[in-house]
Amino acid sequence: MSTEITTPEAVTGERVSEAALRPQRMAEFIGQEKVKESLGIYIEAALKRGEPLDHALFYGPPGLGKTTLALLIANELGVDIKTTSGPALEKPGDLVSTLTNLQEGDVLFIDEIHRLRPLIEEFLYPAMEDYFIEIRLGEGPKAQIITMRLERFTLIGATTRFGLLTPPMRARFGVVERLGYYPTDELSQIVRRSAGILRVPIDEAGAEELARRSRGTPRIANRLLRRVRDYAEVKADGSVSLDVAKAALQMLNVDEYGLDEMDARMLRLLIEDFDGGPVGLSSLAVALGEESDTLEEVYEPYLIQNGFLQRTPRGRVVTAKAYRRFGYSVPGSTSEQGRLFSDG
Ligand SMILES: Nc1ncnc2c1ncn2[C@@H]1O[C@H](COP(=O)(O)OP(=O)(O)OP(=O)(O)O)[C@@H](O)[C@H]1O
Ligand SMILES: [Mg+2]
Repeated sequence: MSTEITTPEAVTGERVSEAALRPQRMAEFIGQEKVKESLGIYIEAALKRGEPLDHALFYGPPGLGKTTLALLIANELGVDIKTTSGPALEKPGDLVSTLTNLQEGDVLFIDEIHRLRPLIEEFLYPAMEDYFIEIRLGEGPKAQIITMRLERFTLIGATTRFGLLTPPMRARFGVVERLGYYPTDELSQIVRRSAGILRVPIDEAGAEELARRSRGTPRIANRLLRRVRDYAEVKADGSVSLDVAKAALQMLNVDEYGLDEMDARMLRLLIEDFDGGPVGLSSLAVALGEESDTLEEVYEPYLIQNGFLQRTPRGRVVTAKAYRRFGYSVPGSTSEQGRLFSDG
């Protein structure tokens, strides 16, 4: 039956369980306490006044719960949510029927909102600010502009790349919340909650092991749980203990610290080609074939937070922990790096 892993049905199964694991109520959304608290207040206030919620923007690395929050907000407000994404919208016309069909208070969710075309952004400004859109009919001197009123709606935007959002767009969101990586104890709660839904027996130590290796990210934690469940069912009695988790993760080549491929490439490059740094962000980006913004917003925060990388005025520097992770001995302690290492 092992061939089934790659069949479309199996893929669908994965999607189904991804949806099944998504929290349905705000109370099931674990962690991000500050974000939840503010949102709770804004939602309650909007409900009390009988007004739509302010436009809201969520940003942060992938898999931390931006889409989930948008769905939860609509749920809590008891309104409909329509979903689209920056790259899916080619011309303003693509949005007209969606916008004009929104009822008072409904949510329009735009994922990857940093990838909206300028023309669509401009089309959205009056919609966001004054709830109307302008549609141009025809070309040249005979062109007509029709104005259409919209119901008061809430736009929720999500992005992994806050820095790429234009200032006028940013300024139109009344609520702006950043999602950060989850600490191990919260991820461990997420793993146990998901295990409950998937009916996988898991003990505390097993859950914590998965949590530690999930790069601070609920989506990765859930993915690892499903893979470890497979292993536990085939190689053990179906339940996930610390030993089962460790053996499964080793078989899956999951890094002990949760580093992913790009994390590893970046740290290795710094160690192997740049003597540990300092290296400027743009040189690093060129060497890795990645954009500086992506490195800075998507990859670096995890590495810095977990003590693998430091930002110094002269550039990025790897830490002793990074050297050890890749099996290198830590360079001598007389240099600037030596000082960095001594307190890490
Ligand atoms: N706080 C949380 N508590 C429980 N589960 C969570 C939480 N945050 C995220 N998840 C789970 O992780 C999965 C990924 O979350 P989500 O799709 O909301 O991430 P995202 O930030 O929108 O990612 P992307 O940037 O890739 O769109 C969800 O399916 C959900 O099950
Ligand atoms: Mg999302």
